[in-house]
Amino acid sequence: MDADVVADQAEWIDVCALDDIRPKAAVCALVGRRQVAIFRPGTAPALYALDNIDPFSQASVLSRGIMGDRNGVPKIASPIFKQSFDLRTGICLDDAAVRVAAFPVRVRDGRVQVKVDVQLDSPSVTK
Ligand code: FES
Repeated sequence: MDADVVADQAEWIDVCALDDIRPKAAVCALVGRRQVAIFRPGTAPALYALDNIDPFSQASVLSRGIMGDRNGVPKIASPIFKQSFDLRTGICLDDAAVRVAAFPVRVRDGRVQVKVDVQLDSPSVTK
């Protein structure tokens, strides 16, 4: 899936309050038909949003992974087979040919918003 195409068809969608996501935690939100994992790695309101489905296991689990960083790259490690994904881009750090969709995410007036094409039926997982 071409990220630019997604952005063109997508709108900012209100998901939850920033306070609903504890620092160093993540949530999974159903946005339209997409499961979006939203990560808050630190106490700053910096957020990342990825497709929640782990392409290696096909399980909806990335929001339950372990956050960390590898050489300064913020990452999430899938709880199933432990592959790590760059929180900024969705690119797998263990296999660069694999990525999950990364969505724009922002905070407005204390509310978390993501930009997702809710029309898409299937998650844009490429492998
Ligand atoms: S993510 Fe399902 S048991 Fe750990």
